Amino acid sequence: MSGERLTTEEYWDSVYKEPQKKAFSLTKTVGDFLKKVFGSRIKNYSEYILWTNIYQKYLPKGKDLKILEIGSAPGWNLVKFHNVFGYAPYGIEYAPTGVEENRRRFRGAGLNPQNVIEADFFDDKLRLRYGDYFDLVESGGFIEHFTDVSPVVERHVLLLKQGGTLIIIIPNFRGLNNKLFAFFNPEVLKMHNLEIMKLDNFRKTFSDLGLEEKYCNYYGTFNFGMFNTPQKGVKYWIHRFLIRFQVLLNILFIFIFGNRGFENRHMSPYLIYIGRKK
Ligand SMILES: C[S@@+](CC[C@H](N)C(=O)[O-])C[C@H]1O[C@@H](n2cnc3c(N)ncnc32)[C@H](O)[C@@H]1O
Repeated sequence: MSGERLTTEEYWDSVYKEPQKKAFSLTKTVGDFLKKVFGSRIKNYSEYILWTNIYQKYLPKGKDLKILEIGSAPGWNLVKFHNVFGYAPYGIEYAPTGVEENRRRFRGAGLNPQNVIEADFFDDKLRLRYGDYFDLVESGGFIEHFTDVSPVVERHVLLLKQGGTLIIIIPNFRGLNNKLFAFFNPEVLKMHNLEIMKLDNFRKTFSDLGLEEKYCNYYGTFNFGMFNTPQKGVKYWIHRFLIRFQVLLNILFIFIFGNRGFENRHMSPYLIYIGRKK
């Protein structure tokens, strides 16, 4: 593989080993109540925009289309693709604790846990076994952890059938988001390739890979949930509070922007590319 990996398997495994702390119960109760009134978009407005506006418009419809997620742990994405679109989900994941968690979720959803393939994505055996195999290939929060991104995307494309759909999502840690993440977790910010988070650079990444662009843009308005902190200390508690405050921001966004969102390079939490293999 050319270019440098900005994260390690040990790092990702430690992420999945972290104990899940309980949220402050009063605010959680209020949040759950608001969710009943306003629907799921209140909890995660950008997720709502993604699944209702973008995916519904640009993804193929068809039960049992095979979808592969690269870096698939903990697996909730694939379970949702199965529940919403009826796709048959597969994942590639190398962190052992992540694989375990992903398989547990698959079992819970009545899906085949063996479809979670424990492997390094850059192992050439995968290409030999699964070349031109999948109807959709997707990754979220994966390619920005490499210095040279095009070869990483090319490996996604190799696993896609002709006419298949590529979906790549990365966070936007530029603009205001950069300042906030630099405050909350500068060490983790360093693990990201910030250059491909400029929309022009992101789009260029896909330009010579035999793809036809369907959609490429920022999405979502702003989300404190995209940052993380070390598991203890003042920053941890400030972040916990702001995550709760996000619910109020989401209500505001819904009143101002309705179901459209307000995409911009300073604050939008994510960028997305959807393309078809020619
Ligand atoms: C940001 S996380 C993915 C998040 C997740 N798919 C989601 O949005 O629900 C990136 C994932 O990629 C995995 N990963 C990173 N490098 C990998 C590699 N070379 N092969 C397989 N998995 C890898 C990590 O272990 C981690 O689970």
